Amino acid sequence: MKRIAYTIYFFCIIPLFSTTWLIHAQQPKWTVGMSQCNLGEPWRVQMNADIRKAAEAHPEIRVIFKDAQNDNLRQSAHLDEFVRAAVNLIIVSPKEAAPLTKPVSDAFRHGIPVIVLDRRVLGTDYTCFIGADNKKIGRAAGRWIAKLLGGTGKVVELKGLMTSTPGQDRNSGFREGIKGSAISVVFEADMKWLEPNARKEMESALARFDKIDLVYAHNDPGAHGAYLAARAAGRETKMKFVGIDALPHEGQMYVRQGVLSASFEYPTGGAEAITTALSILNGKTVPKEITLSSRFFTKDNIAKGGEQVPE
Ligand code: FRU
Repeated sequence: MKRIAYTIYFFCIIPLFSTTWLIHAQQPKWTVGMSQCNLGEPWRVQMNADIRKAAEAHPEIRVIFKDAQNDNLRQSAHLDEFVRAAVNLIIVSPKEAAPLTKPVSDAFRHGIPVIVLDRRVLGTDYTCFIGADNKKIGRAAGRWIAKLLGGTGKVVELKGLMTSTPGQDRNSGFREGIKGSAISVVFEADMKWLEPNARKEMESALARFDKIDLVYAHNDPGAHGAYLAARAAGRETKMKFVGIDALPHEGQMYVRQGVLSASFEYPTGGAEAITTALSILNGKTVPKEITLSSRFFTKDNIAKGGEQVPE
């Protein structure tokens, strides 16, 4: 009888308790809602991958991803859903500043900590903003381009969505960077961050101007779209192309291939978002603003891993 009791104890009771303990140990303590504005561009796919990888090291959090497919209303609805589901924290990479300001503010005022990643919203109703300094990147690109062109030349500027803050800052920074030089921006258009739009806009620029020295695009898909248009017109060797993002398998690869003269890094901030989320969830105070540093890559420095973007 005693032996039967021991057998039951060893083979049934102990395993039962240990599995319960295991399940309990692996239960996430916190749910984080991540609202991504779209997954149609490699850079955003990378951001989600960076978040996922960083979160995997922390079983105490679970991240729920939502893709707004480049639609402000859908993204706003996702934020409302996160509030109704009472998630513990929200990470949002908003499409446009103005339309996403209210839903972000509503979530924040509801008591849910909100980390705004990469593109800004208006006002200060959020917990923390994380992103690189787009104005500084634009200014550095402008100065680098002015030097490359020997202080003069005709430039096409293909802008990111001008209702999003990185587009505005990469434009104003660039204009500051070329100030004092004889560079003229002969054609500018909003390609809304998208390669097919950039290609179309570049076709118009090529049709209007016989001489274009360089294309400055606010992201690498834009620079690549412009390159494809120039190549289709047999003019790609007559001009240079500069972009922003510098993902290893995108911008950096284009620099290696000689398609782009330079690409300026725009870090996704995914890993930093998770570190910051954990600090907030553990009751620590975090800065209102976290500015990420950035590198730039050219054919001369890419082998040594690029260089720090100067002030
Ligand atoms: C992707 C993207 C990046 C760019 C960032 C700016 O949607 O266009 O290429 O650097 O957004 O927010």
